[in-house]
Amino acid sequence: MKHIAVLFSGTGTNMASLISRSVDDDLDVRFIAITDNPHAEGIAKAEAFNVPVYIIPGMDKGWKMSRSNDDYLLDLLRGNSIDYVVLAGYMRIMNPSVIEHYSNRIVNIHPALLPLFRGRDAQKQAYEYGVKMSGCTVHFVDRGVDTGPIIAQRAVDISHCSNAEEVKNAILPHEHELYYEVLKQLVTKGYRIEDRHVIPID
Ligand code: GRF
Repeated sequence: MKHIAVLFSGTGTNMASLISRSVDDDLDVRFIAITDNPHAEGIAKAEAFNVPVYIIPGMDKGWKMSRSNDDYLLDLLRGNSIDYVVLAGYMRIMNPSVIEHYSNRIVNIHPALLPLFRGRDAQKQAYEYGVKMSGCTVHFVDRGVDTGPIIAQRAVDISHCSNAEEVKNAILPHEHELYYEVLKQLVTKGYRIEDRHVIPID
């Protein structure tokens, strides 16, 4: 049994999809959900699956975690014997101490084909640039923003989209599928990393 912490800040559709697909597949995992946003829509989604939800208390404004929030998060992860941390729309930059502690055990999904359109509002960046293809990327988290080794990518045709919202809606169902494929591989067989190359273990 692997213990997974899913961190989210907003709607939590990726989180809900990961939990629901794991349940359908009878994957040998147990989830906890963690959010920095006490008003996040995703809280109800996690609770609907009886997944315990923890709200990081007193988050200051800004993207970096403060020292005490960082301690709270690490204690929570350690206390729940977490094997993997899954970022699913978590809008904060992880503190280096958490990244070091969970080195190559934190994954993130980004709604663009990295290294293009890093950072916030990737779908809007892609739309405004006028690319015809975009997609989504699952990667390990390192100290940079969306710079860690790439685990998997899915290209999505966005040439028909007339605004950033349509780009988001075109990519999101692919995120749900791709993220679950990666989670399944991660908890069943794992990946090895050679330099920046992430190779699924058979
Ligand atoms: C997704 O587009 C994900 O790629 C990005 O944040 C968004 C979260 O959406 N990191 P949701 O909360 O999973 O619906």
